[in-house]
Amino acid sequence: MDQLLRNFFLFLSNNRTLTKLAKSYGFKFGAGRFVAGETIEQASTKIKQMNEDGFAVTVDHLGEFIDNEAEAKAAVEECIHAINVFAEEGLDAELSLKLTSIGLDISQELVMNNMRFILNAAKKHGLIVTIDMEDFSRAEQTLQIFKELRSEYKNVGTVLQAYLYRVEADIEDLNAYDPYLRLVKGAYKESEQVAFPNKQDVDENYRRIIKQNLLQGNYTAIATHDEAIIDFVKKCEKEFRIPREQFEFQMLYGIRIDLQNELIAADYKVRVYVPYGKDWFGYNMRRLAERPANVMFVLRGIIKQ
Ligand code: FDA
Repeated sequence: MDQLLRNFFLFLSNNRTLTKLAKSYGFKFGAGRFVAGETIEQASTKIKQMNEDGFAVTVDHLGEFIDNEAEAKAAVEECIHAINVFAEEGLDAELSLKLTSIGLDISQELVMNNMRFILNAAKKHGLIVTIDMEDFSRAEQTLQIFKELRSEYKNVGTVLQAYLYRVEADIEDLNAYDPYLRLVKGAYKESEQVAFPNKQDVDENYRRIIKQNLLQGNYTAIATHDEAIIDFVKKCEKEFRIPREQFEFQMLYGIRIDLQNELIAADYKVRVYVPYGKDWFGYNMRRLAERPANVMFVLRGIIKQ
């Protein structure tokens, strides 16, 4: 049953018509459970509080499947606006973004120019911009873009997904770029041709790549809510004497706040991924797919409308 629901929510997350409808319909159906507001000003009140509680933050202006230049340009302007708000308000916040929100599906030239605009603005304030990893069909192009940008900018990072068979080879390959990497399990519906279908195999591969990247000496953001994985990282820290300056834990806004607090109390660096904006549909459907029990929050949200 869980698998069926998972596939159903992942199917919805890819639906462009529903994505557009939700955007024009507004911030509804329990969207606030996982999204910090419609505007950066709304989100920044929450970020300020998180910073005061000891958390660093990476902020994502929600957006995906953009298919025209005007919308891509608006997304770039919003990212730059967010960077300026972080600076003005003195927030401990970085930026995360999806390349499809700034033109990946339109042209390589557009997405590269847009990334350079954003990276230049972020560089002025010493901020890192992390490129989220989308579905497998865009993985190779995303990594090529990351590599090209990484040779020009120190403040760019990206994400690797443990469910992909290719991930170990990618970690090896990226080692030459002194990469800033966020390691995740992977959130999209992929075929058995390219990704492990079983959770156990994904978890095992996740442990393998965390150890691999830490031992390669690269900064590693371990982005998970899985306590067994977090315990594994703590074990690596002890066994291989990994300094705490070399890694951080990351979790999504609104998920496992108890665990986030526990890690802060134990003096680990924790960064919360804070999404905001009107394009909440695909993001929220992926959160439902990860834990179909979350659907209760959505139903409560609908009843409250
Ligand atoms: P797992 O799914 O095994 O969950 C472990 C436990 O965490 C669950 O038992 C539950 O308690 C809790 N949990 C997990 N998800 C939950 C949810 N939605 N609601 C409530 N509880 C939940 N993916 C991707 O493909 N590309 C990307 O760029 C990113 N970026 C990214 C950034 C950050 C900071 C994070 C934390 C995650 C991502 N992801 C991602 C998502 C990632 O791939 C993965 O889908 C989720 O993190 C869920 O997997 P876990 O590692 O938490 O483990």
